[in-house]
Amino acid sequence: MRENEWDELYRERGQIWSGLPNAALVAEMTGHAPGLALDVGCGEGGDARWLAEHGWEVVAADISSVALERAASAVQTGAVTWLQADLVASPPERGRFDLVSMQYYPLPLAAGEEGVRGFLDAVAPGGTLLVVGHDMAGHEPHDARFNPADYYAPRQIAEILGDKWTVLVHEPRRRERALPDGREAPADLVLKAVRDN
Ligand SMILES: C[S@@+](CC[C@H](N)C(=O)[O-])C[C@H]1O[C@@H](n2cnc3c(N)ncnc32)[C@H](O)[C@@H]1O
Repeated sequence: MRENEWDELYRERGQIWSGLPNAALVAEMTGHAPGLALDVGCGEGGDARWLAEHGWEVVAADISSVALERAASAVQTGAVTWLQADLVASPPERGRFDLVSMQYYPLPLAAGEEGVRGFLDAVAPGGTLLVVGHDMAGHEPHDARFNPADYYAPRQIAEILGDKWTVLVHEPRRRERALPDGREAPADLVLKAVRDN
């Protein structure tokens, strides 16, 4: 989906996501020493808010200016920098972030391994990569605009990591929160890895 399509999707409703932080972010990062985080495809800002509340400085980036306006008015803190960017076309700065968090971020397969590396390389030595996606096995896509097969799953990102990473978590996890339309959500696929120093 392009920028205007994301903007359109956000305009369809006053609020799309719950406003709450994603469960895997809370589970994996609670108690972690804060630093500088990149929230990739931050949407309406629920994760950026949680990170800021837990001492992180956050660059919260999204392609949709509609989402970002909404996020910035809901999450008013100097700890978050809101950034409108197409992160496939303009990858984040290399080696800058102590945490790169990709929560249900639709990274197109068409971006290729180089597209994935753009995110991996943004993690500082010793930093953490956290990728969460839907486990679509046996589930119909919940939005006709999305074919999950067109996007990287956490498993495919794990395959690209190589030997300079330590994988701490790579597993499916039951997701309690329903989808925005009220349907039961597929399980989460959670990948957490630390970049070697
Ligand atoms: C499924 S939503 C997830 C939002 C948020 N992470 C959450 O968990 O609630 C995906 C988000 O990625 C953003 N996005 C899609 N393609 C992008 C791109 N190329 N660069 C930056 N953001 C993008 C969308 O605008 C959308 O807000």
